Amino acid sequence: MVSSKGSNLKDGYFLGRDHKASTRLNYQHFWTSNLIKDLLHPEIKVDRSDMCIADVGTGTGVWLVDVAQQVPARTKLYGFDLSSAQFPRSEWLPSNVKLIAQDALAEVPSEWHGKFDVVNMRFVLALVGSEAKYKKLISNIRLLLNVSKSAAAQVARLMQKPLATTDYSYDASLISRSESRAESHRYFPVEAQNIAQKHDLQLLSWDEMPIGPTHQSFWNQSNLLALEEMVAVYDQQGLGGEGDNLRQIIDRLRQEHERGWIIKASFFRWVLQVESI
Ligand SMILES: C[S@@+](CC[C@H](N)C(=O)[O-])C[C@H]1O[C@@H](n2cnc3c(N)ncnc32)[C@H](O)[C@@H]1O
Repeated sequence: MVSSKGSNLKDGYFLGRDHKASTRLNYQHFWTSNLIKDLLHPEIKVDRSDMCIADVGTGTGVWLVDVAQQVPARTKLYGFDLSSAQFPRSEWLPSNVKLIAQDALAEVPSEWHGKFDVVNMRFVLALVGSEAKYKKLISNIRLLLNVSKSAAAQVARLMQKPLATTDYSYDASLISRSESRAESHRYFPVEAQNIAQKHDLQLLSWDEMPIGPTHQSFWNQSNLLALEEMVAVYDQQGLGGEGDNLRQIIDRLRQEHERGWIIKASFFRWVLQVESI
């Protein structure tokens, strides 16, 4: 069922959806865009004068709102999310942006099949908690793409480096707590080529943009805020024990950051393209 209220674990989402969580998403958008410089990967070869773009797991819709300022006004921009809780009011959106409550793991309504030249999905993969769900998500994205054009999916995420070096803070207990992170370590980007082949997609490129000193404090702040959202969700759900453990981890991380220790992470992005027919 699609939820329209705030965050909770009932719909499987373990981050927040209140104004602070929305602020974090918007902040994350602006500093990661500053890191990577372009919102649409230069390898995406569709005709940019007339595009239809989807953003899956759109959150506050900030990526689409920013894209709207960089593409011709006739570009159609659709955002889909399990919950509409973080959507701006429709009158505050550019007239070519439409946000729709839709579960990305449910059957794709036929009206959306083959409609999109570009499907963007950013900061959603880490939330997919099992291999079956992961496959369903990729096959749904595939269904959205227009096979008669060189339509492309752009998939992006921030990811911590698997396994620590002694130079960096890396809280193993935190990582093992999250099954979804373990899954995505296995699949991203090591398995990207296999996934592309299985879904009849071509892996055009994948890049890694390491978070360097310029963006380090932005990443530290975003990560701490996301962890605090998780604490709030645990508390809401009566999982106080989990919340307390996480509170201790956050406190330790915060102190480590003050001492200059970091969680080394990168922004990863793949482009998967449908072969033209
Ligand atoms: C971390 S936020 C990222 C939002 C946005 N993509 C961005 O980059 O700012 C993850 C979003 O995925 C959405 N989400 C999680 N599971 C979903 C699902 N099964 N279908 C659609 N959206 C989902 C959440 O509701 C949330 O808005």
